[in-house]
Amino acid sequence: MEKITLIGCGNLGKSILAGLLASELFSKDQITVVDKSKTNLSFVKDHYKIPVEDEIEPAVKNVKWIIVCVQPKQIDAVLQKLKGIITEDQVVISTVTGVAIAEIEAVLPNQKVVRVMPNTGAAKQLSMTCMAANAAATPALPMISKIFDTIGKTLVIEERLIQAATVLGASGIAFFLRFLRAMIQGGIQMGFHPEEAQLIAVQTAIGAATLVSENGTHPEMEIDKVTTPQGCTIAGLNEMEHQGLSSSVIKGVMASYEKINTIKS
Ligand SMILES: NC(=O)c1ccc[n+]([C@@H]2O[C@H](COP(=O)([O-])OP(=O)(O)OC[C@H]3O[C@@H](n4cnc5c(N)ncnc54)[C@H](OP(=O)(O)O)[C@@H]3O)[C@@H](O)[C@H]2O)c1
Repeated sequence: MEKITLIGCGNLGKSILAGLLASELFSKDQITVVDKSKTNLSFVKDHYKIPVEDEIEPAVKNVKWIIVCVQPKQIDAVLQKLKGIITEDQVVISTVTGVAIAEIEAVLPNQKVVRVMPNTGAAKQLSMTCMAANAAATPALPMISKIFDTIGKTLVIEERLIQAATVLGASGIAFFLRFLRAMIQGGIQMGFHPEEAQLIAVQTAIGAATLVSENGTHPEMEIDKVTTPQGCTIAGLNEMEHQGLSSSVIKGVMASYEKINTIKS
């Protein structure tokens, strides 16, 4: 059976590991974790009882799937270590923000390379993970989708859309949370204690997202169901639109997209 190695087991790495173990896609002896941080290695060893290494070389031997989960400034060192020790049938899966497939191929030519963009929902197995592969790795995408389905939902996209996926999916967490905060503030102004307002707003947000997700409906169809003619919901919605809600959200998404395109290709 094919093995998997996680290089870097920080915030995201731990979420991926928890998802993998819960899914039973791989048994514990088929997963290896390598990390520079002794604290992370002890945590993984004690908590999950799986093999750990502090060096990359032994950790990637006879392993099919190599997930690189380090900070952008750390990936060069990892790729230099992989160079010359991995073979063409091994698949390098990078979660590293802003590092293009071509940059990885420049160090590891002819390698199967996949770039994935999860979000912090991964910690609760609720990530939205977008992924793009080079030609050599395209046949491996079904298995890589299975791996990342263990931490939420996955979508295969073209690499040209990875920046957009970062804005919509990863920065999107912050955008939704800012709207949630505003709802809580409104609730407090109407008379709820902050924790009560938060409970109501959070559960309502989960309900709204679940309706659209499980019914497969467009948001406006679910909005119509709660919008009585001349009622309070339409009064609130129209005032939000007069104040520029949809327009400011779209402008914010586009500002974020313009910014990400200036940071790194
Ligand atoms: N967190 C998310 O939900 C999320 C979402 C989308 C994308 N990403 C991307 O995923 C990557 C990882 O994010 P993170 O939040 O998990 O980072 P993190 O918490 O900093 O974890 C990275 C881990 O990798 C270790 N490491 C660094 N160089 C190494 C090497 N040469 N060999 C072995 N281990 C090494 C680090 O050790 P030291 O601390 O000792 O250096 C650290 O424990 C980043 O590029 C980030 O942009 C994360």
